[in-house]
Amino acid sequence: MAFADGVADFRSDTVTRPTAEMLAAMASAEVGDDVYGDDPTVNALEEESAEVVGKQAGVFVPTGTMGNQLSIMYHTSPGEEILADQGTHSRSVERGGPQALSGVAFRTTSGEGGRITPEDVEEAMEWAGFFPRISLMIWENTHNLSGGRVIPLDLMTETSSAARRHGLSIHIDGARIFNAVAATGVPAHRYAETGDTIQFCFSKGLGAPIGSVVCSDRETIDEIRYLRKRLGGGMRQVGVIAAAARIALRDRQRLVEDHVLAGKLATRMAELFPGSVEPADVETNIVNVAFEKVGLAWDEVAGRMRDDRILVNAPFGNWWRLVTHRDVDDSDVDRLIEALR
Ligand SMILES: Cc1ncc(COP(=O)(O)O)c(C=O)c1O
Repeated sequence: MAFADGVADFRSDTVTRPTAEMLAAMASAEVGDDVYGDDPTVNALEEESAEVVGKQAGVFVPTGTMGNQLSIMYHTSPGEEILADQGTHSRSVERGGPQALSGVAFRTTSGEGGRITPEDVEEAMEWAGFFPRISLMIWENTHNLSGGRVIPLDLMTETSSAARRHGLSIHIDGARIFNAVAATGVPAHRYAETGDTIQFCFSKGLGAPIGSVVCSDRETIDEIRYLRKRLGGGMRQVGVIAAAARIALRDRQRLVEDHVLAGKLATRMAELFPGSVEPADVETNIVNVAFEKVGLAWDEVAGRMRDDRILVNAPFGNWWRLVTHRDVDDSDVDRLIEALR
């Protein structure tokens, strides 16, 4: 459904506003002091989350960034390295968090769509003992910067087995894991079993205003909960936001609608500007457009978007990212395409 104020916002799937049902649940949430473990709404959310991804326990955190950073703090020691795709969010967008908070650097791979192969692992480990120790591998599924691409389960299974043979821990940045689930029908717990920890966000396409969760075995989550307090992430009557997150989690299959809409946007964009989008690569809710192929000056596009009350991010070089979510619909896509036409 489009926003009531008539703005069509394609900047991100984080721009959604809480639904009336979420707001009602927030207003009537049963709460307690979560640092004492007393908040029943948070406890329920953590249990439901862990169950969905087939892990023993979960810990609620305010953001996906904190979920990733806590997991990195837990799995690594200063001086070590993380094996991950070069464009992975925890390396590229989290503002040096791993370097500052954990004292670790990255050893990067550059596979299509954020994929890491068993050969990548073998290559990285070839000189183990000579170069810095690699103690952790990070998956990101779906992979944001490559356009919401899904990492296939088979590849995750094979590569994680190779990493485990070398003693690496594995974290999954599953900020959008339910987009992967909605796109493939593979249950979330199958993806999650290829990692030791997984974090996912309630505040992206799922539509809750705030919140993520890290799930793992009970002992790991106890320690991550301890580290969360260190970062100031021990929240008190936080059931008021967990209540919205529970609804987001319950309704996760709705993401399929965002994928259908992104497919429509990609097809229409490719018709209007041949070569700007490869519709077959649009597997979930993110459409990466090659802006050069649009052939328009950015100032001209920006002005027209402003006039038509359409919000889009500026391209970064040739990369122009458009995102669908629960608060844009068919008519918003029509408006966007018409404005560009
Ligand atoms: C793949 C991925 N991981 C982590 C995050 C961080 O989430 P947050 O914005 O809640 O910190 C994002 C945010 O867009 C993301 O796309």
